Amino acid sequence: MKKVECIIRPSRIEELIVAVEKLGINGLNITQIAGYGKQKGATNIYRGVEYEVKLKEKLKVEIVVEEDKVEPLVDAILEAVRTDEVGDGKIFIYPIEETIRIRTGEKGVKAI
Ligand SMILES: Nc1ncnc2c1ncn2[C@@H]1O[C@H](COP(=O)(O)OP(=O)(O)OP(=O)(O)O)[C@@H](O)[C@H]1O
Ligand SMILES: [Mg+2]
Repeated sequence: MKKVECIIRPSRIEELIVAVEKLGINGLNITQIAGYGKQKGATNIYRGVEYEVKLKEKLKVEIVVEEDKVEPLVDAILEAVRTDEVGDGKIFIYPIEETIRIRTGEKGVKAI
């Protein structure tokens, strides 16, 4: 199992959810976040030095899937959220040791 975590533009969340549903994935988690990437947003002048301090609002979407779904999920995310402009976001993939469905006690891929 892997966790596919993506940081996306809030405006792309509906497209992402449609893409995830099409893959038959059963759950996800969304968090509102703020952050910055390479361009760091707007610039401010402080003692003659340019400090770049602007944080951009993004959504963090976490989806735990079995190994076979990682590649199709990543492809689907790219297709759903890419605008080709800077700030499109990032995808991070983490190993997941275990998943347990609390209601039934099922474990592993059965619990996803
Ligand atoms: N290295 C990182 N670690 C954690 N979060 C990051 C990292 N880089 C970007 N993010 C998060 O992703 C959001 C979007 O980043 P962004 O798409 O601007 O990345 P980038 O590397 O600057 O790529 P691009 O050149 O396409 O803009 C940031 O606002 C931040 O929340
Ligand atoms: Mg950027």
